[in-house]
Amino acid sequence: MTINVLMVCLGNICRSPTAHGVLEDVVLKAALQEKITIDSAGTGDWHIGRSPDSRSCDAAKRRGYSLDHLRARQVSADDFLTFDYILAMDEANLADLRALQPANSRAVLALYLAYSGVNSPSEVPDPYYGGSKGFDKVLDLVEEASLGLLQLLREKHQL
Ligand code: 4NP
Repeated sequence: MTINVLMVCLGNICRSPTAHGVLEDVVLKAALQEKITIDSAGTGDWHIGRSPDSRSCDAAKRRGYSLDHLRARQVSADDFLTFDYILAMDEANLADLRALQPANSRAVLALYLAYSGVNSPSEVPDPYYGGSKGFDKVLDLVEEASLGLLQLLREKHQL
């Protein structure tokens, strides 16, 4: 059985691709890539088909992650039946997801940073209109959450 995890933000070009790329790396290093699949999507449709923002790619590259293989897409109704965990970067994303979730979906919807340590903020701030520090902050936050999520998946699914 594979566990399917979907990272979601607004545009799918900054935060959720960063979360996607970082979790992919963490899962690969744990040799769990056959057990955990990862994808990302946006609630919005403006950037469908585009590569992640070059500022996200550059910040990720500086820490050894590549986002080059990722392309933006929009969340679909099918996602709620395919994915076990649909993890939102902020409260607005989570509210949008809850409004879209069909009644027959058993996906767990949550804020991604709920998997971080107790002192973490609850949302990943949108870096799109800010400076380069915001992209490093996204990495700090999603790196911590990726470790917490992996631990939870190991415990809950006996990986
Ligand atoms: P993301 O950032 O949700 O982290 O991908 C954004 C990217 C683009 C826009 C907003 C947020 N936009 O308005 O185009």
